Amino acid sequence: MNQVNYLRISLIDRCNFRCQYCMPEGAELEYLHRQQLLTDDELLTLIREVFIPVGFNRFRLTGGEPLLRSGIVEIVRSIANLPQTQDLSVTTNAFLLAGMAEDLYRAGLRRVNISLDSLHEATFDRIVGNVGKSRWQQVWNGILAADRAGFTPLKLNVVVIPGVNDTEVLDLAALSIDKQWHVRFIEFMPIGNDELFSDRGWVSSESIRHQIREKWGLTEAQVQGNGPADVFTIPGAKGTLGFISQMSECFCDRCNRMRLSADGWLRPCLLNETGQLDLKTALRNGVSTTQLCSQVRDLLALKPEINYKGRESGSETGVYHRTMSQIGG
Ligand code: GTP
Ligand code: 5AD
Ligand code: SF4
Repeated sequence: MNQVNYLRISLIDRCNFRCQYCMPEGAELEYLHRQQLLTDDELLTLIREVFIPVGFNRFRLTGGEPLLRSGIVEIVRSIANLPQTQDLSVTTNAFLLAGMAEDLYRAGLRRVNISLDSLHEATFDRIVGNVGKSRWQQVWNGILAADRAGFTPLKLNVVVIPGVNDTEVLDLAALSIDKQWHVRFIEFMPIGNDELFSDRGWVSSESIRHQIREKWGLTEAQVQGNGPADVFTIPGAKGTLGFISQMSECFCDRCNRMRLSADGWLRPCLLNETGQLDLKTALRNGVSTTQLCSQVRDLLALKPEINYKGRESGSETGVYHRTMSQIGG
């Protein structure tokens, strides 16, 4: 059985972007109030006294947009300093990264995954739902700042949407040639914006690999990470290409993660709400962390049954009461 040791921690449900693939267009999302969020102390207590004792040692900070969480640098420092932490990373849209990259690096963060869905300002702004001054340059500056600060591996996430950014696949893949950057193509999932998914459909990893193979060739490779990406490289390139194929190939049987939402719900599967535990309420009601350890161990034992492994490849069904931004990607 797979060892489940990777916890994706959402620090905040708010986001400064409204990416098409992640949120329903025009919908007013209800955000959590500050007192509903786990406090820094509660989060660290859960990590130290519950998650580490039950076997988690890899942590990813997500959102919404995690850089909007005040105190994130201190949160990073506290988790990075725990002797049991074997891996700590952040998934961000990079809009605020240029001003924070060095502080985060100094606090002990060593790697980041950044969403970059287009190299064209207009397409980028359309995808991230921006109507004012273009946001592309600031995101690009964030990526360059992360590169300068020394984050490695530096991963760029591309959700490929037919008729939106699928013509840019080769240009985006080319970013992995001269820089030691790791470009990952993610199959669009019907979670967050079902309407866009029904309208546009999705692009398979295999068809993207085909285009890349025809142009440059591709060989299998490896990169540090805990996710489900299949990794390749263009011969002679400094970086790699990753493919996250949750539509065409079900990887649930190798699932190694759970998710903690910003309001303290522990969720065993992205695509299935069964079994969620409300750890924040338990903590606030005085339940001991020893008892919480035993509840989380019970949930770990049930996880193989909860995993979404039964679904047909490409199935569009699932229980999505929260958007991707609320769950944390
Ligand atoms: P690494 O540790 O760098 O490998 O990170 P990662 O790939 O786990 O993290 P990232 O936040 O960059 O995730 C990339 C994307 O992979 C997510 O946004 C999802 O689209 C997809 N993904 C990650 N975890 C799961 C999962 O458990 N189930 C499914 N179906 N998709 C997932
Ligand atoms: N399908 C696939 N990936 C998605 N992401 C957000 N919504 C979706 C979706 N519907 C990805 C983003 C980001 C990560 C946190 O989640 O690209 O990299
Ligand atoms: Fe794991 Fe559920 Fe994602 Fe499958 S869908 S990889 S079981 S979290």
